[in-house]
Amino acid sequence: MRVHAVSLSSTIVAVVVASIAAGCGSSSTPTTPTPTLSFSQRIQTEILTPSCASCHTDDGRSPAAGLNLKAGSAYAALVGVASTGKPGAVRVIPGNPSGSYLVQKLEGAADIVGLRMPRNGPPFLTDAQVALVRQWIQNGAPNN
Ligand code: HEC
Repeated sequence: MRVHAVSLSSTIVAVVVASIAAGCGSSSTPTTPTPTLSFSQRIQTEILTPSCASCHTDDGRSPAAGLNLKAGSAYAALVGVASTGKPGAVRVIPGNPSGSYLVQKLEGAADIVGLRMPRNGPPFLTDAQVALVRQWIQNGAPNN
């Protein structure tokens, strides 16, 4: 009885292993999902609108630092646009997160003009949120 049970489970193992192997062999097209980081969904909706657009908006005021970060305006105000606060700095340089003034302001880099953003922090953005901004810029700062 005992011996029989062992051989039965060995058989099951063998069958499972065989079908896994077969499964691997048949998948000729590897499906590596390309993570698409959406500016509108991940950056605008999750970060800029809730954390920044209270000051950086033209609704009922002029945007802080002349930087409008509300939905529909933020992209054009960020990518390739010169800083109003720091001469020579560019807010977002596609492909260059560390060189982008936006990132420097979010991380509170030593050589920024003014304060770390959000200006009413702490709390500042989480490491994960800053990493998301960095990744979006690294991806070429697409308007997606
Ligand atoms: C409480 C108001 C307030 C909030 C909230 C705020 N900011 Fe600002 N921001 C300012 C002011 C005022 C300045 C100009 C003075 C300074 O740089 O400290 C500024 C400057 C900036 C600049 C520099 C612009 C330039 O062209 O030099 C960037 C970039 C910026 N903010 C991004 C953000 C981001 C991103 C957020 C949200 C995570 C944010 N800010 C939240 C008030 C705010």
